[in-house]
Formats: sequence, C-alpha cells, structure tokens
Amino acid sequence: MGSQHLPSSSMLLLLFLSSFIHMAALGRTPSSTKLLYIVYMGERQHEDPDLVTASHHDMLSSVLGSKEEALSSIVYSYKHCFSGFAAMLTESQAHQIAELPEVISVSIWPESKSFNDDGYGPVPSRWKGVCEIGVQSPISCNRKIIGARYYSKDVDPSEIARDYDSPRDANGHGTHTASTAAGSLVSDASFHGLGAGTARGGAPRARLAIYKVCWGSVGCGQADVLQAIDDAVGDGVDILSLSISGHGYFPASLGAVKKGITVVFSGGNDGPVPQTINNAVPWIITVAASTIDRSFPTDIILGNGRTLVGQSMCYASSDPGYKELVTFDSCLVVPQNLTHLADKIVLCFDGAFAAPVAAFRETSQLQASLTQAGARGAIIARFPRSLLPDCSGITCVLVDYDVGAQISSYARVETASGRIPMVHVSPASNIVGRQVMSPRVAAFSSRGPSMDYPDLVKPDITAPGVDILAAVRDGYQFMSGTSMACPHVSGVAALLKAAHPQWSPAAIKSALVTTAHTANAYGFPIEAEGVPRKLADPFDFGGGHIDPNKAADPGLVYDVYPQDYSKFFNCTYAPSSTCDSEHSRLYHLNLPSIAIPDLKKTPLTVWRTVTNVGDTDSIYRAIGESPPGVDMVVEPSLLQFNASTTTHTFAVTFTPLQMVQGDFNFGSLTWLDDGKKHAVRIPIAVRVIIHDYFSDTS
Ligand SMILES: *[C@@H]1O[C@H](CO)[C@@H](O)[C@H](O)[C@H]1NC(C)=O
Ligand SMILES: *[C@@H]1O[C@H](CO)[C@@H](O)[C@H](O)[C@H]1NC(C)=O
Ligand SMILES: *[C@@H]1O[C@H](CO)[C@@H](O)[C@H](O)[C@H]1NC(C)=O
Repeated sequence: MGSQHLPSSSMLLLLFLSSFIHMAALGRTPSSTKLLYIVYMGERQHEDPDLVTASHHDMLSSVLGSKEEALSSIVYSYKHCFSGFAAMLTESQAHQIAELPEVISVSIWPESKSFNDDGYGPVPSRWKGVCEIGVQSPISCNRKIIGARYYSKDVDPSEIARDYDSPRDANGHGTHTASTAAGSLVSDASFHGLGAGTARGGAPRARLAIYKVCWGSVGCGQADVLQAIDDAVGDGVDILSLSISGHGYFPASLGAVKKGITVVFSGGNDGPVPQTINNAVPWIITVAASTIDRSFPTDIILGNGRTLVGQSMCYASSDPGYKELVTFDSCLVVPQNLTHLADKIVLCFDGAFAAPVAAFRETSQLQASLTQAGARGAIIARFPRSLLPDCSGITCVLVDYDVGAQISSYARVETASGRIPMVHVSPASNIVGRQVMSPRVAAFSSRGPSMDYPDLVKPDITAPGVDILAAVRDGYQFMSGTSMACPHVSGVAALLKAAHPQWSPAAIKSALVTTAHTANAYGFPIEAEGVPRKLADPFDFGGGHIDPNKAADPGLVYDVYPQDYSKFFNCTYAPSSTCDSEHSRLYHLNLPSIAIPDLKKTPLTVWRTVTNVGDTDSIYRAIGESPPGVDMVVEPSLLQFNASTTTHTFAVTFTPLQMVQGDFNFGSLTWLDDGKKHAVRIPIAVRVIIHDYFSDTS
C-alpha cells in the first residue's frame, strides 16, 4: 500500500455494519441479556466427534446448572477443525466459562492490538468529537480511537437487544473495517496460522472515530446514518468510510463533500448481475471488490492414494484421518438429519448457474443439514470463484467440477468393487504472491450501470475485498465483501489527503480512478468473476484496480466545483438563491469517466477540464480508444501546461458508426505526458440506441 507519512492530525471516520455471522465480545457490565459467545478450546482432543460434543454439553451444564439449559443454549458445536462451541449466554455465564482451565478464550475483546496508540501524540485540538462509552459493554477511547458514538433511534429494538448498547460491535464487522482502513501495525497476526504476517491498515498512522449505526444482524436506520454523518462532519473528520448499502445517503454525503471530506462507500454484494451497484451518487467513491494474491490450497487424499487439490480455510492441526465419502448430485438435495452421514464427508455439486448470493444460501443450508447429521464435512464442486464458504465448524472444501467428477468417479469404482470409498481432507496451506492470478473482480461485487444514474460510470474503482484478514474482537479473521474493499480505498484516500492537503474530494477521487490499473502484474487484462468469467469492463471496476503509489502523483486531475453537483441535481438539495439549475445530463459533470447510455444519430459532445498537479511545464497528448461502433474525437488532442496555464478544457465527441439498438461498449481516453511519467486514463461506456427503450445493460 505504499509508504505512509501521515501527520498525526489525520482522522478517519468509520461506520459499523452488521454481517452474517453474529459473534459477541465480552464486556464489563453484568446483564441478563443473552448474546452469542464463541468458546474456543484449541485443537480437538478426542478422536470421536461425539465425545467432543458431549464434553461441550458437560462443560455448559456445569455452568448453567442443567443439561436441558445447556442443550437449549448451545448453537454450534465445533469438533472437526478445532474444539469449541457457540452458545447464547449472559455475560456472567460467559465469564464463568472463561475461567475454566480447558478454555483458551471466550471471544473477549479488550481493545484490539490494531487500535493500540503507542507513539501517538495528544489528540489534535481541532477535533471536536466525543467518546460515548456506552451502557452495556462500555468502550474506552485512546489516542488512536479518538471518538465513538452510537445511534439507534431508527432501529428495531429487537436488533438492539441482539447487540451492545454501546459503540462496541457485536458482530465484528466494524472492527474489521476500521482496522483495514487504519489499523496500527501488528506483527504475527493470523487466523490460526492462515494468512500469517504483519497486519496493518491502509493508513496505519491515521486516527479513527467510530460511529455505530448498524445493529444486530441487519438494521442500519437511514435516520441514524444521516445523523452520524452530520455529527462526523461537525466533529471534524477528514474521510468518511461507509461499508453500508443504500443510495448514497444524500444530502448528508453531499454536505460532507462540500466541506472537503472525501466520502467512500461500498458498492454492494449483489453481483455479478448488472444494474446492482449501490451508492452510485457522483460525489462519492463507490468501491467494487477484488481478489488478492493469496490462495488456500487444500489436499484431498483419496483412499487409493491419489491427491487432488481444493481450497478451504480449514486450519485443523489434529489430523482427522480418512473418512467415508458419500456423494450427492446436488448440494440442494442433501437431506436433513440423515444419521448415516454421521462422521462422513459428503461430496456434492452446486448449481451450475448459482449466483453468489444463492450459493451462499445453498452453502448455509447444506452446512445446517450436515451439522444436524453429524457429518465431518463437505467437498463442494462449483463453478470456479474465489470466495471460500464459511461452514461454521464443519470442514468445507471447494473444488471445481472437474475435480468433483474425479472424486465422484473414484467413489463409484470403489462402491462397485464392494469397497468403501474413503477420503482425507488436510488442513489448508497458504500461497501468496505472483503465482496466484490476481486481482479479479469478485463474483459477488455489484455491477453497474446504476439504476438510479445510468449517466455515470459506477463503481468508480475496485480494491481488495476477498478473504481479507483483519481485526475481530481480540483476534484476526477473514471476511469478504465490498465492505472490506471500501476501507482499503478510505485508507489510501487518507494518505492522499495527508500528502496533498489542498486536494478536493473530487481531485482525490480523480487521482485514484485515473491511475487504477486494468492489467495484472503479467500484463493480462483484469478479469471479472461471474458465469462466465470475462474481461472486466468499467461497470465491473470503474477505472480499474487501485494503485496507491501512482495515485499520489496522477499528473492531471478532473476536479469538480462542489456546487456543480447541486446544479446537476436541479438544485433539489440546495437553496435556489445559491444554485443555478443546470438542467443538463449528468455525463456533463466533470467526472473522471464518461457514460452515455443513449447515443442517437446526432453526434454528442461532452466537455471535460483537467488541472495540472504534476510538473509545471508539461505537455500531454490524447490517446483515445473508441468504444466499438462509435467514432470518438478529442479536441484539442494536445494540452500544454505552464506557470500561467494550469487547466485545459477539451471536447470529446461521439458519433455512432452503425444505427442499431445496441449494447454498452467500452473505451478509454488517456492523456499521456511527454516524459511518459503520467498516463491519466478515464473509462468510457457508450450505448448506441435508435428507440428510447433499453434492452441490454450488461
Ligand atoms: C429430523 O428433522 C426434523 C425436522 O427437520 C426434526 O423435527 C426431527 O426432530 C429430526 N430428527 C432427529 C432424530 O434429529
Ligand atoms: C435535471 O433536470 C433535467 C431536465 O428536467 C433532467 O433531464 C435531469 O435528469 C435532471 N437531473 C437529475 C440528476 O435529476
Ligand atoms: C502557456 O501555455 C499557453 C497554452 O497552453 C500558451 O498560450 C502560453 O503562451 C504559454 N505561456 C508561456 C509563458 O509559455
């Protein structure tokens, strides 16, 4: 992520969001409220999983008073990769369990190491925020986390009851995103040995202020978010990082941008379907998610000695040995409570066209069935995509259909010869580096064009968001989503703001978008996962994959006067006395991209203005890559900057070459300086149409 020299006054704002997994932290205030606690007892000690489960029941019974209480409180019993359980407990019960000698940890969260404030000076005097410590599981602030607030007036009370009545996050999502944006350096971080190394946020010297607006498993109240943004602006934050869904939360987000605050939002996890992008307003940075150069190969050894390879996050160090293999054609038809699956490993085939969200549900359903049946684990064959399923306690290995078919055929041969097919799943190993083809836009990452504003290229950029290791409670865990990609961009935006304090939010966004890369380290074009996988286009990743070092020196920026946003929004969000309505299409805004969804017979010209932020005397030449089927002319095509001329305006004229009710086609415009130090590239999307109806958005 480049080097950081952030002044100590840099601050970031982060908002908490819930995620699927509900995990809790131990606080300090006794309460009768029951929350979900994860109890971890280390490597599995009994060979027989039933004995492991029985030992969990015994332990819980001893604390809760009866076996009935224990059975009704336990939610999951982890017995394959490690020994432990999840149970609904009061804080005092959780404390009692934490005291037991066999318990290594109950997910207690003293402040994570990622937020330690060693070496930080006093909180800058311009900071006006507060530290609300909260009622239940109170928190404390330090010189790293300098502010914390929580908002729950627009949330269903049942969601609040499942969370802490304080800024502390019960599900880990807020801690994860905060540490990704600005976590301090922590050596030897890993998830049980996986992903081991030094953990650090994008801007590790930045300070954090936390505004918790999401509660329980789903609830983020619109009214609460708006109030949080309003408070954050008043408190004096520099960057807003919001890993939440929505429509951009304007006018609050626009108000923040007008005050010079960069606002970064996640784009949503509804891909790979087009028109699913969230938070697509033009003044914010909307972030897609991509894979990183790490994978987790997992050996699958068949009874005949043959080894095949899948991917998993299983970290078992106790060897489960060979287990009987049972095959199902579809993961959806694995029946519930089939006792004959006990202690076995199931191989099943996922639906060929399953969208990521559907696959997630399929996996959860499968996991529930297998847990109920006491199965050891699952080998899931599916269309290749990198997101590893979280099977909460059972071994889950992903393979492609080819490997799935080979395992299945082995099982058939064994059964036909009267033998029992056996399989052994080893713990995963890590591979990091250039041998892992990356980045790729993740299948789940929401895609453009925006339903709300088809005149924009959205998302703006992609950043790492698959299997990201970051702080959760007192440890580190993997999470995936555009929620994880968003704080990567926020961290880099903080670095840019520190390096160039005079840059506007539009200039920071321009620097990020125009320097993003569209090819990987080998020069191959970046791909987007989906069915099928394809070359990524601007509606998958905007300008491309984030390149922090290049963004620090972009050469030229496409700046926007903040009042232009109001003008283009027909002064809907500004008093008419200060706003002249532009009554014009959004593609005329001076953004670092051009999207024209309805180019007709008549040539269309859009104007852009670039500002030189590189060497004073420089010359740039236009290199246009016209979208197929469209003639694109840039005029002038040579820009000369000097001490007196720091901006230039140019016209880009699009003319259709065929009259056809068409699809979106993509191109780009790059300004290349004479020294070839800067290539300032913007993405272009144009759809030629004859009639005013659209049939294709992909
Ligand atoms: C089997 O599943 C059904 C419904 O899923 C449940 O009602 C029943 O108690 C289960 N039986 C056993 C033996 O677990
Ligand atoms: C502003 O008004 C014009 C003309 O009425 C319309 O075409 C345009 O879509 C409006 N812009 C927005 C952002 O609503
Ligand atoms: C600066 O550049 C502008 C055009 O880009 C040119 O007209 C002007 O003469 C230049 N000034 C100097 C001092 O070179």
